[in-house]
Amino acid sequence: MSTMQRPALTDLADPATLPDPYPVLAGLREASPFAERDGAFVVAGKHADIAAVLRHPNASSERSNAQLAGPRRRSERPSFLSLDPPDHTRLRRLVSKAFTPRRIAQLEPRIREITAGLLNGAAAAGQLELVSQLAYPLPVRIISEMLGVPVEDHPRFAGWSARLAHSLQPGFGLNPEEVISRAEAAQAASDEFAEYFRELIAARRSHPANDLLTAMVQAEDNGEMLTEDELIATCVLLLVAGHETTVGLISNAVLALLRHPDQLALLRADPALAARAVEETLRYDAPVQMTARVAKGAMPVGDLTARDDALVLLLLAAAGRDPAVYPDPDRFDIRRGAASHLAFAAGPHFCLGAPLARLEATVVLEAFATGMIEPELDEASLTYKPNLNLRGPEQLVVRFGGFALG
Ligand code: HEM
Repeated sequence: MSTMQRPALTDLADPATLPDPYPVLAGLREASPFAERDGAFVVAGKHADIAAVLRHPNASSERSNAQLAGPRRRSERPSFLSLDPPDHTRLRRLVSKAFTPRRIAQLEPRIREITAGLLNGAAAAGQLELVSQLAYPLPVRIISEMLGVPVEDHPRFAGWSARLAHSLQPGFGLNPEEVISRAEAAQAASDEFAEYFRELIAARRSHPANDLLTAMVQAEDNGEMLTEDELIATCVLLLVAGHETTVGLISNAVLALLRHPDQLALLRADPALAARAVEETLRYDAPVQMTARVAKGAMPVGDLTARDDALVLLLLAAAGRDPAVYPDPDRFDIRRGAASHLAFAAGPHFCLGAPLARLEATVVLEAFATGMIEPELDEASLTYKPNLNLRGPEQLVVRFGGFALG
């Protein structure tokens, strides 16, 4: 595609593009890599280029956080998502000691129980508003229970999450006042959240419990432990990174299945395909559409070289539809087994919560496919969250004839 035909990045912010950003993303991917603003800004959309940048030692998350923060107050509590080695390595290792695959696998019965309860709860009405009645409450309940947040505080916790999520979207397409007001709302939520967690951490220090927060308070590596600020930053990170994203994954997956009845029929006939259907959704309609790095020194981006301090935008969702990796990429095919997607990124910052997100979504798809009687999508009800980065429906009604697990 020539430069003339290349879509503008701001097209992604057009409300008309929200329901289906993939033609714009395809245009950007085909034209990529390309540089703007005299080389200060580079865009990558091809799978191979993005995968290489995510693993490149000069790709900085720390500088990217500082640049993207723009006019807003830079967080006093950076989480390890926005740190580079060696700080990133130390913190991630400590948190990984608490956030273990074993702890996550143990959650499966509870995830099943909550999912069945939510679907049963909606059965009498014969319809389910997928986002508010299933995709939203499940992950927030699980992460709050994991951390050890008392059940009466769950609504406060969910409120912080929604406000913090707004800060995760890139500023282009918004006017500067909007960027600042979103950043201020997120900062206020983060401050309230920190205050709350300071007390909870103190309580766990004196009375350890069987929860993730206690495990993080006690995690030790070569005599090092997490400081209070690091613990708080990690709790905020787990809430934000682990919540809105999973909501998007669950909703995008159910939507894709309802729009492709042949695929839903396949899953119904063989529920063991649920894990593959989750991977296919991550490739086909990524809940995190993009991320960014800043070049620390010259860094190759495909056949370009990003200069020192250039901001490199990585269109993860465009990589999921790259025909160089996925034949017939716009087809939703749950048997594809596309685990090579970049929806959880790659390299040192590969999503720490991927096993949890995968487990939650797999349980939901199994229950949905096997237990929902004659589900029917109400297309007219579908609206999208006005968020460029965290993609997913804001509202989606599914009518059904009842819920019964075999
Ligand atoms: C479908 C759901 C999810 C998606 C698509 C997703 C996506 C991502 C992506 C793309 C990154 C890398 C960002 C970057 O480096 O620029 C990331 C990092 C991270 N995610 Fe997830 N995530 C999901 C669910 C979760 C869950 C459930 C948790 C935990 C409860 C979680 C915790 C984290 C953490 C802690 C990081 C930072 C890792 C690091 O910097 O080393 N995520 N996630």
